[in-house]
Amino acid sequence: MSGFEQLLAEWDGMGVFIRRDAPTESWIFIALHDTRQGPALGGCRMRVYPTPVDGLRDALRLAEGMTQKWAVIGFPYGGGKAVLALSRPLQAAEREGLLRRFGRVVESLNGSYATGEDLGTTPADLALVAEETSYVHGIDRGTGRSIDPGPHTALGVFAAMRASLQHLFGDPELRDRTVLVQGIGDVGLPLVRLLRDAGASVLASDTDAERMEAATRLGAAPVAPEAVYAAPCDVFAPCAVGAILNADTVPLLQCRVVVGSANNQLAESEVAEQLHTSGILYAPDYVVNAGGAIALPMFSQGASEAEVRQRVEQIGVTLGEILREAAARSESPLHAAQRRVEQVLAR
Ligand code: PHE
Repeated sequence: MSGFEQLLAEWDGMGVFIRRDAPTESWIFIALHDTRQGPALGGCRMRVYPTPVDGLRDALRLAEGMTQKWAVIGFPYGGGKAVLALSRPLQAAEREGLLRRFGRVVESLNGSYATGEDLGTTPADLALVAEETSYVHGIDRGTGRSIDPGPHTALGVFAAMRASLQHLFGDPELRDRTVLVQGIGDVGLPLVRLLRDAGASVLASDTDAERMEAATRLGAAPVAPEAVYAAPCDVFAPCAVGAILNADTVPLLQCRVVVGSANNQLAESEVAEQLHTSGILYAPDYVVNAGGAIALPMFSQGASEAEVRQRVEQIGVTLGEILREAAARSESPLHAAQRRVEQVLAR
């Protein structure tokens, strides 16, 4: 079987829209995972992948993560995700062309899938997409400007950290806790700011020198990317790419808890059990990182900043419940979260 066939044969989702974008030599994948709760909604990721198969694999996993995210927060959407899988970096004009063609594809799906920002796309990109389709969340229709979900996701991660510390130590405060943030991007940077303001001692790691500089300007101490897993800290916050928790990295970890915004942090779900037996609390990514998913549709429906903020902070309450339930049953938090998801999806 070819790579695409193999991936699709092993996937339990609804279906995938696939299109080759010849002008940019890239691929458009739109994966719809589980749409029983509503139409698919999920961000659009753009990055260079070694092969198109890697892009499709990412789309399938990310769409599944969105199903879980919507179920945990109880929003009436289905899991979906778009991946624009580039074979090489694009120039500005090419990038705009691809985004516009992607927008037209989304429009042609008539609402079965709606999009928003994700890793590798910016609010400006989404504003462009929104010129081609109305199925973009987080656009201010008055100004045409797109709302950045990153700071809202960061706020949710922060609330989740407090809930995790409360669970572990009976004290939610970040003051004097050491937090290591991996990935100083759209979520990582505002998270560093929140942590600094809360009096935490912040370590930051990124492969990009400019991003590192932005973090150090906020008072974070730099950690080299190759040293990130073994760096001692209280809280490890993966806020970059997925699959970074795996059989190679887990034995290196020197933290008490993992709470971060990256989607699909676990290379496989069994890694959650490995973390559990190593005594490291793993806060399930799709619970922790739902802030953007809460904010975009709420803003689309006209909610105020304060209403959105309050709902995002609820993530801490939900995570606290999951952690207590897992502790009571001596199971991993992922196990407890998964049960919630299944209950919602079975309704
Ligand atoms: N891409 C972000 C996420 O995975 C934010 C987002 C959520 C974008 C929902 C669109 C829709 O959570």
